[in-house]
Amino acid sequence: MAKMRYRKVALALAAISAVAAATTTATTTSTATATPTVYNASAASATGAVAKYAYLGCYLEVSGLNGTAPGGRSLEGTTTDEVLPGDMTVPKCLAFCGGGGSGSAYTYAGLEYARECWCGQDLSSLATQQPAGNCNLPCDGDSTTLCGGNLRISLYMLSSAPARPRAAMAVVVAALLLAL
Ligand SMILES: *[C@@H]1O[C@H](CO)[C@@H](O)[C@H](O)[C@H]1NC(C)=O
Ligand SMILES: *[C@@H]1O[C@H](CO)[C@@H](O)[C@H](O)[C@H]1NC(C)=O
Repeated sequence: MAKMRYRKVALALAAISAVAAATTTATTTSTATATPTVYNASAASATGAVAKYAYLGCYLEVSGLNGTAPGGRSLEGTTTDEVLPGDMTVPKCLAFCGGGGSGSAYTYAGLEYARECWCGQDLSSLATQQPAGNCNLPCDGDSTTLCGGNLRISLYMLSSAPARPRAAMAVVVAALLLAL
C-alpha cells in the first residue's frame, strides 16, 4: 500500500517536472526575438554616405503641433524624403540623405514611423529631444534596429569629420589620458 502511494507521488512529480520543462521551453522561445536597438552610424560597419552621420537621439515630430505652420515638419529648410513601406532601414535613409557618398549631404537625417526617411538642412526649434523609449518602432526593412516611432524621429546628424580618422582619434584620446 505504501509502495503504491509512493509510486503515485513519483508519477505526479514527473508530470509536474514535464510541465515545468515545457513552460521553460515556451518562455525561452518567446524571448528569442531580439529587442531592436539604435543603429550606430559611427560603427566600423558603416561605410560611404552612411558613415557621414552620427546618432543624435529620439526627437519630436512637430507636424500638427501648435506653432508649426501647416505642412511643417521637424526637418525643415531645404528638405526631401522617401517612404519605403516594408523596406526602410537606417543605412538606406542615411545613404539617401547623404547623397550616396559623393553628392551634397543634408545636415539632418531622420527615421520615423518604421518606414519614413526625412532629410533636412535645419531642425525646427520646436523639435525637442524625447526619452529614448519614445523611438520604439523596428525598421520595416530591419527589425533589429529602430526607425523612430509615432511622431517620433530617430535623428542622425552630419558628423563634422566625415572621414572619421580613427588612428588620429586614438592618438588624441591617448594624449588626453596621459595629460590626466
Ligand atoms: C558606436 O560605435 C563607435 C565606434 O565603434 C563606438 O565608439 C560608440 O561607442 C558606439 N556607440 C554606441 C551607442 O554603441
Ligand atoms: C497655440 O499657441 C498660441 C500662441 O502661443 C496660443 O495663444 C494658443 O492658445 C495655442 N493654442 C492651443 C490649442 O494650445
